[in-house]
Amino acid sequence: MDEHSIHSPFFFDLYVKTTSKKERRGIAQLEKLREDLLKNETQLQVEDFGTGQSGKRTIADIAAASLTPPEFASFYLELAHYMESQRVVELGTSLGLTSLYLAQKKEASVFTFEGCHDIANVALTNFEWSGKKNIKLIEGNIDQTLPKFLAEHARLDFVLMDANHRYGPTIRYYQMLTKRLWEKSVLIIDDIHRSDEMEKAWKEIRENIFVYGSIDLYRCGILFFDPALNKQHYVWSLK
Ligand SMILES: C[S@@+](CC[C@H](N)C(=O)[O-])C[C@H]1O[C@@H](n2cnc3c(N)ncnc32)[C@H](O)[C@@H]1O
Repeated sequence: MDEHSIHSPFFFDLYVKTTSKKERRGIAQLEKLREDLLKNETQLQVEDFGTGQSGKRTIADIAAASLTPPEFASFYLELAHYMESQRVVELGTSLGLTSLYLAQKKEASVFTFEGCHDIANVALTNFEWSGKKNIKLIEGNIDQTLPKFLAEHARLDFVLMDANHRYGPTIRYYQMLTKRLWEKSVLIIDDIHRSDEMEKAWKEIRENIFVYGSIDLYRCGILFFDPALNKQHYVWSLK
């Protein structure tokens, strides 16, 4: 894929200004935090929301397994800037690194959802360390916290779905969120090719009547809701 094969002016501009950027190293201060988390052997009590099972894991383990890599975290920030997003929602905070990337956009309010108490506490410590005041962590199972949040917030500009990577919750959360999206919203679904059930969820959501454009970046899928986009679907990679 290169810019010459993109005929839509919106996607052409988006590609040139965000996706095709050659240098994407991440934000130095946040990457130092990632390094520290990757070395942190503190044990946390962790609950798995898919299976309901719980056990002990080190922060280092969680950081290695769960965090969005720097090139994608910084791309999400660029996308939030490009879309001029203000109300930002992240389902699945983990240790809060991607929340901190998104909160670099000063005009944005970031609402991030985490169910595991010990993990949420580490994220809160990281938010305090950063001094960022535009992040709010909503603790609890998204099945309960999201409907309550959506009842209190009329419009969302940017949503990253990165919590429970199963078919049922992905479809359910999408259906709840879609009522609060508008034509300038963008919604990202992480891990769309991780399993057959995520492939199925991605295919169904991409074909949803409200979706007017999508980009498959392999790691994640991005959806757009502006009718002017005329149902354009692309497969790109981050350079
Ligand atoms: C892949 S991690 C999130 C990574 C994070 N977005 C980042 O980029 O750094 C997924 C997180 O979602 C949380 N989670 C999964 N299902 C959940 C649910 N139903 N309610 C609340 N949190 C949930 C897990 O505890 C885990 O910390």
